[in-house]
Amino acid sequence: MNRIALNRSAPLVLGIETSCDETGIGIVRGTTLLSNTIASSMDEHARYGGVVPEIAARAHLDELVPAISAAVTEAGIRLTDLDAIAVTCGPGLSGALMVGVGAAKALAVALDKPIYAVNHLVGHVGADLLHSDIDTRDTAPLDYPTIALLVSGGHTSLLLVRDLVSDVELLGETIDDAAGEAFDKVARLLSLPYPGGPQIDRVAASGNPKAIRFPRGLSQPKDMAAHRYDFSFSGLKTSVARFVEQRQDAGEPVPISDVAASFREAVVDILLTKALAACADYDVPRLLLGGGVIANARLRQVATERTDAAGVALRIPPLSLCTDNGAMIAALGAQLIMAGHEPSTLEFGADSTLPVGQIQVSDSAQSPGAP
Ligand code: KG4
Ligand code: ZN
Repeated sequence: MNRIALNRSAPLVLGIETSCDETGIGIVRGTTLLSNTIASSMDEHARYGGVVPEIAARAHLDELVPAISAAVTEAGIRLTDLDAIAVTCGPGLSGALMVGVGAAKALAVALDKPIYAVNHLVGHVGADLLHSDIDTRDTAPLDYPTIALLVSGGHTSLLLVRDLVSDVELLGETIDDAAGEAFDKVARLLSLPYPGGPQIDRVAASGNPKAIRFPRGLSQPKDMAAHRYDFSFSGLKTSVARFVEQRQDAGEPVPISDVAASFREAVVDILLTKALAACADYDVPRLLLGGGVIANARLRQVATERTDAAGVALRIPPLSLCTDNGAMIAALGAQLIMAGHEPSTLEFGADSTLPVGQIQVSDSAQSPGAP
């Protein structure tokens, strides 16, 4: 593998992301975004009300090659121009991850390019570094340390990022459902289609968020010692289910908008209360949001209000970089290269439970879950 000619100033990196239901291929040059191609198998999961791992893995197989071609064309480069390949090796769905890892290794060998096996969650943070040449948003570099709140259908994690390529600490995560999963399950209870997040958001717009006081999981004083930064959404989901059942049993209509608005309010409250507690506890005046749930209108609104009030700078990457994508993986790969990290060997494997502190996996010895 060619390690000598690695361009470390603004490397041209292709990133491959297949940890869940999005096949993402992104190409970056340093921190400049050149292309971000995403093919989602979401529609194929809709009838099951959630992501089916085997369907996701098969869809990645179908979508990968067309997505790579589209990304390369959009970026206006040739594969041989690349300095390196970056790939998500975990955490995520095993079968889905394996498709991306296999493709990345094949590309790296065929092109004789170095490969960087990286952590999906840290990639979400890396998304914030990217800007395009035509971008008008504030592209000041991401400052450290920062607290990162990552919320999607697969994860709900609170990170303390002291340095993107060398020091990322998991402060807390969900102990049951992910936030997006809770949206999807509650939408189902309300007979709304999958994915539930956008549906709840839509219906909640005309509801009263104070109509029903749903519980805030792991927020009691007794929870603070062991679970200060952890999340739990299963009690909230059960509470919504009970409320709906009681109305139905009594032959009364279910006030769907009020239920949706009150549920959404509870989720938003829990997420931001814990994220801002972390900012205060660690004296970090920065909060970065990532993951598909960031599309939630109320979450963005309350995040803006509460961070303003707390004197915390809020960063939200564009939505196309918040949902799972390959550009964020390429961005993290480029950061590792620019910081002088050596490539991974080809010995690494997919690791569905890769810990967040492991930003790059170099070989199978560092990836105990590798197949
Ligand atoms: O990051 P993402 O696109 O992919 C995976 O997790 O695979 O996140 C998808 C999740 C779904 O659970 C979806 O219901 C949720 O994000 N979501 C939302 C909204 N839009 C998508 N949740 C709340 N409000 C939204 N507007
Ligand atoms: Zn993700």
